[in-house]
Amino acid sequence: MAQVITITSGKGGVGKSTTTANIATALAKLGKKVVAVDFDIGLRNLDMILGLENRIVYDVVDVMEGHCNLAQAIIKDKRTQNLHFLPASQTKDKNVLNKEKVENLVEELKKDFDYILIDSPAGIESGFEHSIYLADRALIVTTPEISSVRDADRVIGIIDAKSKKAQEGEEVQKHIIVNRIKPELVEKGEMLSIDDVLHILALPLIGVVPDDEDIVKSTNLGEPIALNEKSIVGEAFRRIAKRIEGEDVEFLDLSTKKGFLGKLKGLFK
Ligand SMILES: Nc1ncnc2c1ncn2[C@@H]1O[C@H](COP(=O)(O)OP(=O)(O)OP(=O)(O)O)[C@@H](O)[C@H]1O
Ligand SMILES: [Mg+2]
Repeated sequence: MAQVITITSGKGGVGKSTTTANIATALAKLGKKVVAVDFDIGLRNLDMILGLENRIVYDVVDVMEGHCNLAQAIIKDKRTQNLHFLPASQTKDKNVLNKEKVENLVEELKKDFDYILIDSPAGIESGFEHSIYLADRALIVTTPEISSVRDADRVIGIIDAKSKKAQEGEEVQKHIIVNRIKPELVEKGEMLSIDDVLHILALPLIGVVPDDEDIVKSTNLGEPIALNEKSIVGEAFRRIAKRIEGEDVEFLDLSTKKGFLGKLKGLFK
């Protein structure tokens, strides 16, 4: 059965698009047929992270408005077999999406793909609501900062109130990804720890991604870091993909001293 996974956050700029591109890549590497859909109408950048910006002819709004069919708009990744991408529209009116059109699109995608990953826009306006409406599961990305965590908490409430699953009396499966963690700052007590974040959000953890400037380099190159076997951040994303697949994988030990994050084992449900 196809699964719709929305990657979202409360605060903007916390790493949703980076996470979407890398988890999509890692799931495709596991042999799953994946499409990453950019719902950030007006501000697309998932295409850049995937290195596919030059391939775009049609976009998600063209499909919804019937200007082209789905096959014409979907871009096949050049490096990673099984990875596909549906770009956001850069120029058109944000309010062009409506629930019915989004639902038709997602139902169509479900026929062809194992995973439909939706990259949610920043904020909690209509684009965000459309991106969470059909989610089977949501990955809530937060940085270890109090403002980011508080805004994540708000988004969790909206998912529980406004998703289709919620309307039907079911629950969207929700997990937390803590991005841009700096172990040395956590150890000095200068950054929220994973425990602090989880205590506030009261949801299970599915990934811890360290802050790493190689992410910026890989974005500029258009090569998702999940493809880099030597990168610890790449490994963090590969492990998230395995957990999505139901594997019980240990969390990375990011400690400068031994044992930090070791206590995270068992937190993942
Ligand atoms: N783990 C990380 N280490 C270092 N830099 C990171 C990390 N994750 C993301 N970044 C950087 O942070 C910036 C924002 O990331 P990204 O665009 O993925 O966030 P976003 O949540 O999608 O933003 P928006 O809300 O605007 O859509 C980018 O410059 C990205 O390269
Ligand atoms: Mg983004």
